[in-house]
Amino acid sequence: MNDVVAVVLAAGQGTRMRSSLAKVLHPLLGHPLLSFPLDACRGAGVGRIVAVVGHQADEVRRLLGAADVTFALQAEQKGTGHALLCAREALSPGEGGSGFRGTALVLCGDVPLIRPETLRRLAQTHRQAGALVTVLSMEPPEPRGYGRLVRDAAGRLERIVEERDASPAQRAVREVNTGTYALELPWAWDALGQVGTANSQGEYYLTDVVAVAAHDGRAAAVLLEDPEEVMGINSRLHLAEAGAALRRRINRAWMEAGVTIEDPETAWIEPGVVLEPDVTLGPCVRLEGATRICSGVRIDQGSVVRDSEIGPGAHVKPYCVLSEARLGPGAQVGPFAHLRPGAVLADDARVGNFVEMKKSVLGRGSKANHLTYLGDATVGEGANIGAGTITCNYDGVHKHKTAIGDGAFIGSNTSLVAPVTVGAGATVAAGSTLTHDVPDGALGVARGKQRNVEGWNRRRPGGVKSET
Ligand code: UD1
Ligand code: CA
Repeated sequence: MNDVVAVVLAAGQGTRMRSSLAKVLHPLLGHPLLSFPLDACRGAGVGRIVAVVGHQADEVRRLLGAADVTFALQAEQKGTGHALLCAREALSPGEGGSGFRGTALVLCGDVPLIRPETLRRLAQTHRQAGALVTVLSMEPPEPRGYGRLVRDAAGRLERIVEERDASPAQRAVREVNTGTYALELPWAWDALGQVGTANSQGEYYLTDVVAVAAHDGRAAAVLLEDPEEVMGINSRLHLAEAGAALRRRINRAWMEAGVTIEDPETAWIEPGVVLEPDVTLGPCVRLEGATRICSGVRIDQGSVVRDSEIGPGAHVKPYCVLSEARLGPGAQVGPFAHLRPGAVLADDARVGNFVEMKKSVLGRGSKANHLTYLGDATVGEGANIGAGTITCNYDGVHKHKTAIGDGAFIGSNTSLVAPVTVGAGATVAAGSTLTHDVPDGALGVARGKQRNVEGWNRRRPGGVKSET
């Protein structure tokens, strides 16, 4: 496949998305639509990829730029045939003349579920048949909207007719064009030169090269069994349907690889996430970005994990949000915990409900089990952070650090006004507002002393007589 090039057509606006965002930039499981056909080309092992862009071209280039992709501009969208012509320069940089010679795959930027194997099969069949163009076709349950493959009495492919240009007899044809092709270059450049715009849209149709090849008996078609693979995205409804299909595909693959997914209908695992065998995912779990989950981990219902690493045997309880966090082996989090970027839990460390962490390390076996904020803090091993402990890391201008030593005990409802250090084995009395360091092994008490007033008569609403 190294001698095959790929052209991905992605210049269209996608009017039916009703969006200010170009269609190919709409996210599908966290990745822009266009990244999927590009990845399929990579997976098929093509030697070179050209993406034809037009609508919001700069933004598309910025978000999808990669060493192995060349962008070609189609400033004005004059049809799929014109779009392919726009890739000509990019396919033959500095070579002059006819440039690249050989097989090109042509794909649509809005057809995300196409598989690398399908592209390989298309190219191989095309070459074995000695065809000038081979159309990837399908027979969907509902052919509406697609171009129809018109065959002669002997069943040979004659041409493709767009639905709006088709006769009633042609509309009855079930085999349709997926918009994916293998074709020979430079032949296609000449063929496109013969294509006009005499159709209902006044556009240059790429599909018209089929008739040119058929004239020499060299137009072929490969039928794809699974129409889901080539569903095109034209609306938000299609986007959601493709998302559901992609999730089914991804979830099935992970289950086959040894992951338990309690409710595959609601699990959301983005491409790029890595899971080891014996991971268990509860319902409505969402794993995003560059997340890696090790063996034996359990992630319970409703948790969202983004760009995080979760070590072996760790447990994320229901409804946690983790972003750029790292959990060591056996760590436990939640329910209802929020681990923000730079939150690190060492082996067997625990964070309980309504705890927030940011740029903070909780050492081996340490616990912060209830209602706590740890920001810019380092906590050693075996420390206990009492309920309601708050690191006051922000003075309104700068962020300051808190250090808590091994085996320290922070009493409940303590405010640690940073910068501040609590030594190893130190104890901080509940309710303290700590503004000074506590040495190793010491007790720090920083709160108002209790005073009792005997025989105190409260003023009560309605006025209770208290004077005698
Ligand atoms: C096209 C095919 C149709 C096929 C269908 C499959 C033609 C004439 N028709 O129709 O036979 O059944 O795909 O989905 O090709 N594009 C550009 N520049 C343009 C026009 C389109 O880059 O000037 C890109 C679009 O961004 C899109 C792809 O080409 O990614 C297909 O264009 P679209 O307008 O969706 O073609 P269809 O009308 O669906
Ligand atoms: Ca389309």
